[in-house]
Amino acid sequence: MTIAFDRIGKTFAAEVQGIDLRKGIDKAMVGTLEMGLATHGVLVFRNQRIDDDAQQAFIEQFGPPVVTKLKEIASGHPHFYDISTVDSDGNPIPEDSARGMYLLANMLWHTDGSQNQPPIRVTALHARELPPQPPPTEYADMRSAWDDLPASRQRELDGLAVEHSIYWSREKMGMKMSDFSAETLNERKPVQHPLVRRHALTGRKSLYLASHASHVIGWPLEKGRALIEELTGHATQRKYVYVQEWRDSDLVMWDDTWTMHRSTPYSGSHPRRMRWCGVRELAPV
Ligand code: OGA
Ligand code: MN
Repeated sequence: MTIAFDRIGKTFAAEVQGIDLRKGIDKAMVGTLEMGLATHGVLVFRNQRIDDDAQQAFIEQFGPPVVTKLKEIASGHPHFYDISTVDSDGNPIPEDSARGMYLLANMLWHTDGSQNQPPIRVTALHARELPPQPPPTEYADMRSAWDDLPASRQRELDGLAVEHSIYWSREKMGMKMSDFSAETLNERKPVQHPLVRRHALTGRKSLYLASHASHVIGWPLEKGRALIEELTGHATQRKYVYVQEWRDSDLVMWDDTWTMHRSTPYSGSHPRRMRWCGVRELAPV
């Protein structure tokens, strides 16, 4: 069967036909999927009953998989995070725990790994267990958001650099610098990324924003923060948003270079268990 992409969002996002991830994918398929990611931003693969090994074999095709070190959401697997409402023993995760805080922070619009240099390029999330009414995940199209800005505004923005930092996104969650250990502060230093990126495959420009995006380099702090808040509001208008309604064994893969995403509230008792993996950019951005 040939691979096909069926548009499911208004401006981006597609459902992928013709791929069974249990059988693995060859180099030609990887090329097709890379182009699919560059074109559609979010790819939804339905009904993929894969295990850890198949998920690992899949993500490896796109680059060196992220080595997962964050203990808050560690899965025990070297390349996966558990995005889960329960711990490995099946007990609910308290909201005020470090792990609960991580899940809550996912409700802020973000791109994965922008607080690092190099940042994450592609993420894949597999639905292992869903509640009867699963909370959707929302995705925003920062390429359309860029395209729709007036040319004069685009000229002002292109070339600006932004500081991204885990401390800024956590501050929004009510944490303070004093909540972090000296070791963490030393390991997780703020980084800089361009505000406007050009996609390596399509050449199309997009905004690059995230909950970690703090301020504009060389601008007064508050002015930069106000700009990032304004652009985030612009880029997450409903017309730019695709809402992923999860079904059992969906695998959703997204291009972190021009999309943002966020989780939506869930307070049910039935577990929601997702397995996360990703690949980084090969060079600093
Ligand atoms: C992620 C993420 C949102 C969700 O996996 O990177 O932000 O709805 N997930 O679980
Ligand atoms: Mn995320």
